[in-house]
Amino acid sequence: MEHGGNINLIENKYGIDKNKIIDFSANTNPLGMPNVDINLNCLEKYPDVEYKILRHAISKYTNTNYENIIVANGSTELISLLIKIINAKQTLISMPTYSEYERESRIIGSSIKYYITSQENNFEIETEKLLNLLSLETNLFILCNPNNPTGKSVSNLEKIISYCDKKNILVIIDEAYAEFFDESAIELINEYENLIIIRGTSKFFCLPGLRLGYAITSNLEIIDKINEVKDPWSVNSLANEIGKAIFNDKEYIKKSKDYISKEYQFIKNSFEKINSCKLYDTRANFFMCKILNSKTSNKLFNYLLKKNLLIRDLGNCKFLNNKFFRFSISNHENNLLLIEQIKKFFTE
Ligand SMILES: Cc1ncc(COP(=O)(O)O)c(C=O)c1O
Repeated sequence: MEHGGNINLIENKYGIDKNKIIDFSANTNPLGMPNVDINLNCLEKYPDVEYKILRHAISKYTNTNYENIIVANGSTELISLLIKIINAKQTLISMPTYSEYERESRIIGSSIKYYITSQENNFEIETEKLLNLLSLETNLFILCNPNNPTGKSVSNLEKIISYCDKKNILVIIDEAYAEFFDESAIELINEYENLIIIRGTSKFFCLPGLRLGYAITSNLEIIDKINEVKDPWSVNSLANEIGKAIFNDKEYIKKSKDYISKEYQFIKNSFEKINSCKLYDTRANFFMCKILNSKTSNKLFNYLLKKNLLIRDLGNCKFLNNKFFRFSISNHENNLLLIEQIKKFFTE
């Protein structure tokens, strides 16, 4: 699955001015980043190599212990580091999902097993089926929750983590989209040392260019191992300073959640009138849809791009096909525009 948000590629490939594109593919907060007042002089100094103040801010924000937090250059650095240090012989990945878990697992030569959620079950995880797939050979289970691109969250998380714990299986949960609807496994962190949660600031705080992510685990052995191999200062001084400011911005956090909830409902209601399309319910700030008539997601993608609207065509996503697409919840004006154009596409 290619990444969303690649407006430079779109500009080059389709000759569209990237500044005119309304991007529904990157899944970032439509309110934009929080207001921060940062002195750029921070760049004249190395950041604290232990990132103490930043980690304390994250600890307060997530209600977890300071020692259990590690910061990095985006969630992407943590996905890569964790998969490398765990070095699992066999990795189980819940599919369809974000492509980086498989890419990184292949780099280290881990044998990959898939748990595939089905269309018949609306892409929800069926706990018993999943547990049956976790064999003695499995060392690592990777889950995105809520999941990109389906938007689904897992209802029986504790049962799955506890089962894995008994079988000595580590569980990585990517919570890149957790904050929009408060879907998190953080409260299980102290109880389960086999659990590692990865989060970032790219989506909820709309800071994909900042490259700031963090992992939380009560498994101090894993934290020590990451610190052994991680480059020092991979979070730069600017990201360090901005990070210290944003996690305490309660007003922005509340405003963002309220805005997304309102637009979520608006989009759901609007899609009830579009018969050619199935909108999957979501626990994230984006929706996945399936086209129910003979048209394809690629045709829709091109149609919308001509109107400067960029969605994510999921035709090349493993275990989906050319009927699926995804779009982020944007601001009200943009959401209206997108829905109008999708309606038009299906009536032409
Ligand atoms: C599920 C998921 N995890 C991680 C990332 C990358 O996050 P970051 O910018 O923090 O590296 C993305 C970006 O699209 C994502 O969808």
